[in-house]
Amino acid sequence: MSSVNASGDGPGTQTPTPPLDPLDQGAVQAAVAQALDAIGHAASVTDLQTARRDFQGEQSPLTQANHAIKLLPKDQRAAAGKLVGQARGRVAQALKQREAELQAEEAQRRLATETVDVTLPTARLTEGARHPLELLQERIADIFTALGWEVAEGPEVEAEWFDFDALNFGPDHPARQMQDTFFIDPPGSHLVLRTHTSPVQARALLSRGVPVYVVVPGKVFRKDELDATHTPVFHQVEGLAVDKGLTMAHLRGTLDHLATTMFGEGVHTRLRPSYFPFTEPSAEVDVLCFVCKGHDPHCHTCGGSGWIEWGGCGMVHPNVLIACGVDPLEYQGFAFGMGIERTAMFRHGITDMHDMVEGDLRFSRRYGMEI
Ligand code: DAH
Repeated sequence: MSSVNASGDGPGTQTPTPPLDPLDQGAVQAAVAQALDAIGHAASVTDLQTARRDFQGEQSPLTQANHAIKLLPKDQRAAAGKLVGQARGRVAQALKQREAELQAEEAQRRLATETVDVTLPTARLTEGARHPLELLQERIADIFTALGWEVAEGPEVEAEWFDFDALNFGPDHPARQMQDTFFIDPPGSHLVLRTHTSPVQARALLSRGVPVYVVVPGKVFRKDELDATHTPVFHQVEGLAVDKGLTMAHLRGTLDHLATTMFGEGVHTRLRPSYFPFTEPSAEVDVLCFVCKGHDPHCHTCGGSGWIEWGGCGMVHPNVLIACGVDPLEYQGFAFGMGIERTAMFRHGITDMHDMVEGDLRFSRRYGMEI
């Protein structure tokens, strides 16, 4: 690093003596030359700071010479002022120029080191998507909205009255039992986690009046242990149509339409007599096995029976209509309810319920995720 020594007799940055004679043109030029050399060789901003201190600082020869001007006889001051002033001006100019150069170099260097190769492969975050169960509910809702039905919703924390009483469950019906139903504290709240989507039948009748055509996908809760075929939180889709002159034929036609749109041409339903408190007559709905169509006694999907149990259905019980203020002599209706998990399981050959609820992306991806 350059150092200043006006007398030229050895290194050192602070050498006030002997002072630079402000009238000694040769010495002043030498000081400028030394300064310009040091400035020109400054390889970094730090180097330049040192040079600035050495050649422009208070102790620098030229600054000292500048101070010495006022000690000169008056008639010599102008000449000395001009000489020293120009010298200092050249040093200042050189400092400024080198500073600009170093800054430009620095910027260049930074640009070079911070270059981003936009063509490199990156670790992308995977896009989120909806769960297959969500998609299936939506697909079923779409089938019904295409028929002019509406999608209805109800609360998951439901009044016991809607979940049971309005649906003609007797006070001692086993479905109310503590072992099936999650009751909400305190015990007198008369609230439950809804055990099925059927309470939305009563809600829809009360809030929308008749005629009504609604489809209700949603979450339901029962005190089941999670195992290969059960989960305490699952999904159902409910359908309710109440109008004048509806018959079981309309119910059957609607279910067949749903089966065909979901499982393919030629897949129809069969009804087996059953019992539900809120329908009379009631039936279990089976769907023709969409894999073997009933022709393969060794079929993995239907177990060789040709039919797959799908849900429940029936004609809305007059007591339900009455509980909701609808005259059963004037209006009739049909209803049905299917489990979404079950539907997804046999549609896709899923054998373990755990896969449905554990949220493992490897499962969801296999069943095609849609945004
Ligand atoms: N709510 C019934 C259940 O959870 C399913 C059901 C059966 C719904 C018959 C209906 C119906 O609408 O008519 O098991």
